[in-house]
Amino acid sequence: MSTKFTRMTPEEAASFIKNDDNIGFSGFTAAGCPKAVPAAIAKKAVEEHSKGNPFKIGIFTGASTGDSIDGTLARASAIKFRTPYQSNKDLRQSMNSGETAYFDLHLSHLAQMIRYGFLGKVNYAIVEAADISDDGEIIPTCGVGIAPTVCEFADKIIVELNKKHTKEIKGMHDIYMPLDPPLRRELPVYRVDDRVGVPYIKVDPSKILCVVDTDLENEGGAFTPVDEVTAKIGDNVASFLVNEMKLGRIPKSFLPVQSGVGNIANAVLGSMGENTSIPEFYVYTEVIQDAVITLMKAGRVKFASGCSLTVSNPTINEIYGNLTFFKDKLLLRPQELSNNPEIIRRLGLITINTALEADIFGNINSTHVTGTKMMNGIGGSGDFTRNAYLSIFTTPSVAKGSQISAIVPMVSHHDHSEHSVSVLITEHGVADLRGKSPVQRAEIIIENCAHPEYRQLLRDYLKRGKGHTPHDLKACFAFHNALNETGDMHNAKF
Ligand code: COA
Repeated sequence: MSTKFTRMTPEEAASFIKNDDNIGFSGFTAAGCPKAVPAAIAKKAVEEHSKGNPFKIGIFTGASTGDSIDGTLARASAIKFRTPYQSNKDLRQSMNSGETAYFDLHLSHLAQMIRYGFLGKVNYAIVEAADISDDGEIIPTCGVGIAPTVCEFADKIIVELNKKHTKEIKGMHDIYMPLDPPLRRELPVYRVDDRVGVPYIKVDPSKILCVVDTDLENEGGAFTPVDEVTAKIGDNVASFLVNEMKLGRIPKSFLPVQSGVGNIANAVLGSMGENTSIPEFYVYTEVIQDAVITLMKAGRVKFASGCSLTVSNPTINEIYGNLTFFKDKLLLRPQELSNNPEIIRRLGLITINTALEADIFGNINSTHVTGTKMMNGIGGSGDFTRNAYLSIFTTPSVAKGSQISAIVPMVSHHDHSEHSVSVLITEHGVADLRGKSPVQRAEIIIENCAHPEYRQLLRDYLKRGKGHTPHDLKACFAFHNALNETGDMHNAKF
């Protein structure tokens, strides 16, 4: 560990941050995010506001963060601009009220957009590290995100050296930055476990403003336990995949799996692990969740490549305590590689992501509640869906009791089009959309996936329209209008 860099307290480091600065943070989800300096920046914002001074910053992160970044800074009204994915309720409120300008984009695009200069300057990079050497080799902790790019582009770097993360994690990361066009070459990841870079982020030591020593736990949240609905969705996914293998449409050795974020994704992986007709498999994903580690211990997952170890604190401690077992089975990459379309297409991923709502023709809304309120963001779902070998979307058929149908006539916001979605799965069944016309898709989505209480309404809607994709533009938002006006989509009237 280096002793050459200036040591500062979080408050001293935060004192350098000015109103309007853009900051790039390390990490992906809460994993790998700095915690002490952002909280001190929020404190500074509150002080400045109380003196009547403006103080807001722009934030580039890997994806969502821990509460110390998004929550603390949103509550301090200190975020002028934020990109990309987030999942914090206070930030969500600030974005939906118009206080924070939020730019939602595919996660694989962010680092290159910063490099291309599309998003403005990065004044400071603030990165969490397990270790740093005198010559500027930073060992990230359990999430990488866009850290290599923001370290390269920032004027100055603040390093939070967190003792909670063992230095022995060195070797789990594979840091590689593609060349920019017109010089870009192929990204040479040919197998899930290929290493193509170096195990550290190399920075110019003269750019390191200071090192802040911390001893802070990860801010990992717990998942809602698997319930009847999520277990059924998981079983439907697993049975569908087994059948695809039997039909020879998935090789017997299986294909690498990407599984999205959240409760449903966790449940789906659990079911795939329990179904022993699926052979031991590889995971090539962005977020490595608890379920992957459980399956690895059970010998069901051979290897997982991701951008972050987004696991609970007991699980991260277990990994750190048993690195001889885990280190050669886990690999953390920048999101530019974990989510890269070229690699996803080459490896032939089976991708499983969650929809907020799907329409009867197979279009997906992953982000906006009733088309207006941002939930979290598109995350990596577009990177994976568009380039998958087989792209699956899952969703419970209803939300909020059963007042909301997740299957609607037309999605109220459009993230993934019918052209990219192969299969839709709810707790009621599977709609295999491959090779089907819009009407054929609608029929199987209504009969196999919609909640029985909503099927007749959806059939009635389908009968109204004309043309190749038979919509009735006067009635296509009847479900959403009924929800807004009466609080219940059952009251939809055409
Ligand atoms: N309308 C309104 N609210 C809805 C809804 C709908 N159609 N469908 C779900 N919800 C609500 C749920 O009721 C729940 O609310 P609560 O937190 O108040 O209980 C919330 O949305 C989350 O739903 P849940 O069923 O618990 O699913 P989840 O935790 O698996 O999250 C997404 C689902 C879609 C929000 C999440 O997967 C996401 O952000 N996806 C986009 C990014 C992505 O796919 N990344 C993966 C790439 S690796």
